[in-house]
Amino acid sequence: MHVNEVLAEIKGKEQMPAEQVFKNIRMYKGMPAQRLLAIMNRGFSNSLGVSCSHCHVVGDYDKEDKPTKQIARDMSGMVTTINGTLLKNIKNLKSTDPTINCGTCHNGRARPGAGNAAMRAGAP
Ligand code: HEC
Ligand code: HEC
Repeated sequence: MHVNEVLAEIKGKEQMPAEQVFKNIRMYKGMPAQRLLAIMNRGFSNSLGVSCSHCHVVGDYDKEDKPTKQIARDMSGMVTTINGTLLKNIKNLKSTDPTINCGTCHNGRARPGAGNAAMRAGAP
């Protein structure tokens, strides 16, 4: 499994800040390297129902080969705006701290949303 390959490469540096361990960290500066890999695995791959190769050429993780990698950063920014601003401005919600994440929309699908074929066909 790809996470284990990367973990083997960074052995001894798991708790160091991601930007000191990896080459091209823009978004997750300060995050322990091992935690970044957990996000790659569960937060991204599992939530979207994809493998690492959806956003990376496997092995060349620092490169910007695929547009999906930057889309993931932009989606993250969207999630921050929704959680930090938009949800907070909706009055009378039942949760005290209503929060969404990638899985809330994607729920195992690479392309959620009203524009895709399954949604047009009326699937939930
Ligand atoms: C939905 C897209 C997406 C998926 C799927 C994904 N990644 Fe990433 N990955 C990113 C983004 C975005 C970054 C850059 C984060 C930043 O800018 O801080 C990144 C960065 C990385 C880095 C740091 C590379 C460097 O040297 O800068 C590694 C290592 C990595 N990913 C491994 C993985 C592995 C292993 C998987 C599969 C388990 C995976 N990724 C799945 C989007 C993804
Ligand atoms: C509010 C709902 C929502 C949330 C939350 C969300 N997404 Fe998305 N995402 C979408 C929609 C809608 C699309 C567009 C799908 C299409 O092309 O029709 C999309 C597309 C994408 C794509 C491009 C897929 C492709 O094949 O072109 C990536 C990558 C992605 N999202 C990653 C993420 C990540 C990572 C997160 C969490 C940080 C996230 N998304 C959170 C709704 C969401």
